Amino acid sequence: MDALPVLSAADALALRYGAEASPPGGPWNQHIALLLSHRSIRGYRPDALPEGTLETLVAAAQSAATSSNLQTWSVIAVTDPDKKAALAKVASNQKHIEQCPLFLVWVADLSRNQRLGAQEGVTLETMPYQETFLVAAIDAALAAQNATVAAESLGLYCVYIGALRNNPPEVARIVGLPTGAFGVFGMCVGYASTTAASEVKPRLPQDVVLHHDVYDATGEQAHRAAYDALIGAFSARNDMAADTWTRRVIGRMGKIASMGGRDKMAAALRAMGFELN
Ligand SMILES: Cc1cc2nc3c(=O)[nH]c(=O)nc-3n(C[C@H](O)[C@H](O)[C@H](O)COP(=O)(O)O)c2cc1C
Repeated sequence: MDALPVLSAADALALRYGAEASPPGGPWNQHIALLLSHRSIRGYRPDALPEGTLETLVAAAQSAATSSNLQTWSVIAVTDPDKKAALAKVASNQKHIEQCPLFLVWVADLSRNQRLGAQEGVTLETMPYQETFLVAAIDAALAAQNATVAAESLGLYCVYIGALRNNPPEVARIVGLPTGAFGVFGMCVGYASTTAASEVKPRLPQDVVLHHDVYDATGEQAHRAAYDALIGAFSARNDMAADTWTRRVIGRMGKIASMGGRDKMAAALRAMGFELN
């Protein structure tokens, strides 16, 4: 799959919401067109990335906003096939982790500032709080998304891998994370294989997610029904098990078993040095 054409606002919005639910077009440029053309890709060619690509992606990531400039994230660039295989095993054997030339483990990293405190002989009293963990996880996510957009602008594709959280201590072991560092998610980066082509996946209508001045869920059920039809048709066109969004949410959120071990997250985090007070 090659780099994507730059779409007009009308075309890009129709792909993102379906023609019926498209919002009116507003200001538009190639950057917004790129954002709207995002799709996750789960099949990669083995081709290496051009020299300097990783550093460019990390520069984009480091350009994201970061809470109080604390920069509480790190990223591990994994290219070693054995490590990728081990990480794929954690993530329910998702084959794209082994296929992609570059696998990034995005880390909520309080360990660096913890070391700073130790070196300066200062106790950082905020460290054991949930809020501080949240800051680090948000920082990591913002950085990763900047890298994703940068990669997509270069004709590369990505897919996030939240399934790394199936076993956080094992991920920490594989990539050698210190106490106070937690792999929030992984990310495959590479060129899409020809068989991995995928359409833009439609999203909920804006009426469902956009509220003016106060939260208002009126009409949500009818919008959901319309979205179910849109996603059902998308799934059928893309060789996925025909399914509605409603059934998908229930399948993913209805039973603890679907958490793949992540129901024990608080205990895992505490064991890794995050007290979450
Ligand atoms: C934090 C996060 C974790 C994700 N984890 C996985 C994963 O483990 N495996 C996978 O195939 N996709 C994963 N995804 C991709 C989502 O399934 C995908 O973004 C969603 O279905 C929307 O599709 P799109 O990205 O093509 O628009 C993840 C996405 C996010 C944001």
